[in-house]
Parts: sequence; C-alpha cells; structure tokens
Amino acid sequence: MGGLDHCYNIADLREVARRRLPKGVFEYVDKGTEDMVALGNNRRAFEDLKLLNRILVDVSDVKMDTTIFGKPASLPMVIAPTGIAGLCWYEGEYELAKAAAKAGLPFTLATGSNTPMEKVAEAGGRPWFQLYMWREKELSYELVRRAAAAGFETLIWTVDIGHGANREHNARNGFSQPYKVNAKSIVDMLSHPEWMLNVIGRYITSSGMPEHINYPAKYRDKFTGKKSQDKALRADQVSWADVEKLREIWPGKLVIKGIMRADDARRALDHGADGIVVSNHGGRNMDSAPATLDVLPSIAQAVGDRTTIFVDSGVRRGSDIVKCLALGADAVLTGRATLYGIGAGGEAGALKALSVLKDEMRRTMAYIGKQRVADINGDDIWRGGN
Ligand SMILES: Cc1cc2nc3c(=O)[nH]c(=O)nc-3n(C[C@H](O)[C@H](O)[C@H](O)COP(=O)(O)O)c2cc1C
Repeated sequence: MGGLDHCYNIADLREVARRRLPKGVFEYVDKGTEDMVALGNNRRAFEDLKLLNRILVDVSDVKMDTTIFGKPASLPMVIAPTGIAGLCWYEGEYELAKAAAKAGLPFTLATGSNTPMEKVAEAGGRPWFQLYMWREKELSYELVRRAAAAGFETLIWTVDIGHGANREHNARNGFSQPYKVNAKSIVDMLSHPEWMLNVIGRYITSSGMPEHINYPAKYRDKFTGKKSQDKALRADQVSWADVEKLREIWPGKLVIKGIMRADDARRALDHGADGIVVSNHGGRNMDSAPATLDVLPSIAQAVGDRTTIFVDSGVRRGSDIVKCLALGADAVLTGRATLYGIGAGGEAGALKALSVLKDEMRRTMAYIGKQRVADINGDDIWRGGN
C-alpha cells in the first residue's frame, strides 16, 4: 500500500492499479470500446474547455460542499456504478462504499456487483442502487424492492446499454464478466500473484468463487464455468412506460442514466424521473458518441430548472468537476477515477482518489474566484476573445 504515498493524482493511482491488476481486469476498467474514439472525445472535451481566472477577490474560505437531493454532500459528486470493484479488490464495492461514507458522498452499487447489497448498505453513508432491467421484468422489480428494503435511497436506471458493447480487448485478453478461468486468464492471474492471493484467494476461502451475488438465483453464474447469459437476459424491449412502472415501485429518488439528448431528458422528467445522468457510459458503449461535455449545455438549457442534472464520462481532475458545473450540471459521477483508487489500494486508495479530486477542485475554485459551488456558472468559461 506504500505506493499510495507516491500517488499525487488520478493518473498515478491508475499506474499503481495497472501494475497490480491482471491485464484483463485492468483493461476492462481502463479502456473504452472499438477504436476508443468516444473515450478520447470525453477527455479532449475537458482539455479543450478553458476556465477564466478571476483576480483580487477573497478566496480565503473556499467550500466544496453542496446538497444532492436535499441532503448534504462534501462535494458535488457521486460514486458511479461500476460492476467490477469486487474484482479490483476483495469486496471492493464494500471498500468503495466505506470510503464514500467517510468522505460524505453517495455511493452507487451496480447490479452486477460481487458483494451482497445488504452488506454494502451496512457501510453507512448514502447508498444508491443501479439497475439493469432484465427481460423478465418482474425479477428486476424484485431486486428494486429488495434495494428499498435494504435502505438504498436512490435508484439509478441505466438505459444506454442497447445490444451490449463491442469491447474487443476483453476477447483478446480472455476476459469476461463473470470472470472465466481459461488459458489466457490463468497466465494473467499467475503473473499477478498478490492479486490472485488477496482477491480471488479470499473469495475462495470465504464464500467461494465470486459471483453476481445480487442477481436472482436463476441468473447467477459463478465466475468460472458455464457461459454467461447476462446480456441475452438484459431487456432490449423497454419504453418510457417502464420509467413510470419503476416510479410506482420505487419509494426514493429515481434517476435515469445514459441521456445524451435534450428531448430524452424532457421525456424522462415527464415520465416521473427526479434526475438524469448525462452519460456516454465513460466511452464504453457507442464509440460514435460525442463527449458528454458537448451535449450537456443543451440538456441543461432544456431541463436545468426542472431537475437535478448529473454528468459523467471523463472526470479525472478536480478542475473537470468545476467545468461540469460551469456548463450546467449539479454534480458529477466518477467511474474510473475512484476505481483506479480501489485497484491501487482498496478503501485507502479510494479515499486518496477522493482527496486528490477535492484538493484540485478547491484550487480551481480559488483560481476562478468562486468560494461556493452554487456560484460556479457559465461566466467562468472562456469562450474565445474576452
Ligand atoms: C469498469 C466499469 C464498469 C462499469 N459498470 C457499469 C455498470 O455496471 N452499470 C452502469 O450503469 N454503469 C457502469 N459503468 C459506467 C459508469 O457508471 C460511468 O458512467 C462511467 O464510468 C463514467 O466515466 P468515467 O469512468 O470516465 O468516470 C462502468 C464503468 C466502468 C469504467
């Protein structure tokens, strides 16, 4: 864990995670899809957007806290759902949830996680739950009811998955979710003995091989053995009526994730959503997707006064969070930034990622002369000329 002391930013945590994790696991986290165009678009959009510094104003009391759905959050940030933390670290979802609770941020548990949702809820803080809808919708509703009973406060329904992603690197690495033992993955595991011992080894000696523990029993599939039916079972016949159905079942806040168009954002609200996530899934699904930063302004203009807007895909620096807020988001979701932390050092690594982002955000707010999150706006963006 000593490596964390030498991590000064998210890129450093990524590098520690890259060395520690098997290649198949690391590339599943790190890469996008097909030619990695959307992945590049996301980062380029952040790099191309410039903020204007403001001088000779009081920045002695910069505060990054805000409220998300009426409750305090130490940063305008939520941990995104990623169904892989449990392969980056033993019960990585639990570690990430503990880090989020300590940092005062909501944490979202993915449907495809390896730690029981009831255990993750025990980490305290503000647990949120992410849903993928199965073809047998009643099974999804059961999961939603279970999440409500376990104390999850917000439901995120992810809708941008379509027919599944074409991530060729996974096939090349012999990696699949659930994790399969095959010639390539065995070589990969054996060349990362610390991971093999402390992640797979701990699962085997406690509950057995990791599995999609929150799935209904008939959909569960150990990380070895039979072919995953995951994608075949994911609903590809869904409609806006399903939002209304979830609205009926779910007692808490309902958020639709994967919105890239103003008209879809309007529809989501018309059908009962409390918030939206502007997201291209971190550049992991449709490689022709524009950067979320490029579509955010029109969505914020269309629905910003009616709802809570989250945005994700590409946040790696605290300044990126400021840029999202300046373009009209209320908060960001972080996927890889905090996953790199988990992959580098479990809960301590995730806490490091969060403190790095917070510190960078504080500096950026001081540069642009804004002491409060609510004061960040479009006026902070350089639009060419002056
Ligand atoms: C390894 C990995 C697994 C993911 N799994 C899920 C998932 O199960 N459900 C979901 O809604 N989004 C999933 N996502 C997408 C994230 O929730 C989020 O939209 C994305 O990571 C944001 O981009 P960023 O990684 O650049 O921050 C995953 C992302 C990654 C990197």
